[in-house]
Amino acid sequence: MNDKTLLYQITETSEYMMSFVLVTKADNVIIIDGGRPEDMPLLKKYVGGRHISAWILTHAHPDHISGFIAEYNRNRLADFDIERVYYHFPPYEELKERTDVPDLKYFQRELNETLPGFLEIEPEIADIAHIVRQGESLDIDECHIEFIYTYHDGLFSNLMNDSSLVFSITTPQKKVLFLGDLGPEGGDVLYEESRHLLKADIVQMAHHGHMNVGMEVYAAVMPEACLWCCADWLYNEPEIPSYLQNREKLRRMQRERMYGTTVTRRWMEILGVKTHYVTKDGTNVIEL
Ligand SMILES: [Fe+2]
Repeated sequence: MNDKTLLYQITETSEYMMSFVLVTKADNVIIIDGGRPEDMPLLKKYVGGRHISAWILTHAHPDHISGFIAEYNRNRLADFDIERVYYHFPPYEELKERTDVPDLKYFQRELNETLPGFLEIEPEIADIAHIVRQGESLDIDECHIEFIYTYHDGLFSNLMNDSSLVFSITTPQKKVLFLGDLGPEGGDVLYEESRHLLKADIVQMAHHGHMNVGMEVYAAVMPEACLWCCADWLYNEPEIPSYLQNREKLRRMQRERMYGTTVTRRWMEILGVKTHYVTKDGTNVIEL
């Protein structure tokens, strides 16, 4: 038995990614995402061969789940003792026929980037896979997990990010809210449906802190601490980053209300948050 519940926010080996390992008092593990193939050695170090009660995959983007897929293809995930994998990805077969989207090229690129690679291995992991429904909850040792948001049809200007799972993990002491890579439109839906569920002590900043949910979501959370999965270049990016300079193009793609990390950091200042855990500083250990 451990005397504390510890959350490891793992630093990136790749350019950017998201990876968390929670170790319960009974020494079981919850993994969230894990990052890319090059992030796997550090993930394994923090898992330390423990039993993985839950591996939660937030959404089908390479900086979140390509490590998981690569580990399956390398040796059938032999280095991990996994009880259950939780996810809810968009319906590929249905979406690949859709053309009623703001930017078809972008939409199809998003759809085909990582999801097909997961669908290839999905039948092989069927015995440990669980497709999450919104509103579902589960308990792992002292951790209560509530799934607050899953994929919504029609959010097509930011397809994969807006399909992110949003969930809270509550221990007897702390509540942490994970927002995955949710963007502005997904954030609107989350706020409208579930703002009463968002209050938490700690929040994982959506989409690495930029092009993310609006300030009203964070105001509903009112966190005391923020988790930023941000390498230095991402945490300290210019106030108006180069990828946001062509506003006309963004409007055409219906990718509006996108801001850089600097703006989000200012929101957190306004909300009075004093504690920031940033992966640029290394792997952070947070007691829950
Ligand atoms: Fe991401």
